[in-house]
Amino acid sequence: MFEGEDTTASALSWILYNLVRHPEYQERCQQEEIEWDDLAQLPFLTMCIKESMRLHPPVTVISRCCAQDISLPDGRAIPKGVTCIISIFGIHHNPLCEFTYAPWFSVFCQVYDPFRSDLENIKDRSPLAFIPFSTGPKVRNCIGQTFAMSEMKVALAFTLLRFRVLPDDKEPEPRRKPELILRAEGGLWLRVEPLSVGTK
Ligand code: HEM
Repeated sequence: MFEGEDTTASALSWILYNLVRHPEYQERCQQEEIEWDDLAQLPFLTMCIKESMRLHPPVTVISRCCAQDISLPDGRAIPKGVTCIISIFGIHHNPLCEFTYAPWFSVFCQVYDPFRSDLENIKDRSPLAFIPFSTGPKVRNCIGQTFAMSEMKVALAFTLLRFRVLPDDKEPEPRRKPELILRAEGGLWLRVEPLSVGTK
């Protein structure tokens, strides 16, 4: 239940939240053509999903036991057998991970910018700088990631085809609440408004 349901529910909630905060991106997603035969044909929606999972990764930490001694760049070593907690959230918010166009200005890391995952902008970036589904050869990364991406694209494309998603002004700005997965304190409240017939 946790791996397959709560993760996607968290991702979907935060994606909608980010699209609500950036109506210009929401509108652009609404303008994309939905092709059942090839869901990869939703390039901008895909970029919005990825950027949301960068800022709000559903799984914020993973742990690994070192199978061998590991030397760190600063000369220190992690001995074999030690269990390390790896912060996906920390990696995704680290300005040194080349997520920014201007790495010296770290505040850009906090900005929701779907164009960050544009092919042009990621060609020099380490593949380990964005790991919402974990990563690595022969390790336990997410077996459901392709399914999860398709599921999210379908759910979002059909929601945005029928509705405009809006902020719930009665609720305070949500605070991130990392539990087993990333939730929002008090819940994440949004409003939906049917798009008028003929708009789409
Ligand atoms: C946005 C959605 C999802 C995210 C962000 C996500 C993230 C992750 C992460 C980070 C791990 C690695 C945990 C670790 O290294 O300890 C993982 C493992 C796993 N995920 Fe996902 N996941 C998602 C959706 C799904 C779905 C839809 C399924 C099943 C249909 C699934 C099934 C699994 C399973 C079974 C594992 C454990 C694999 C193993 O231990 O060998 N996940 N997931």
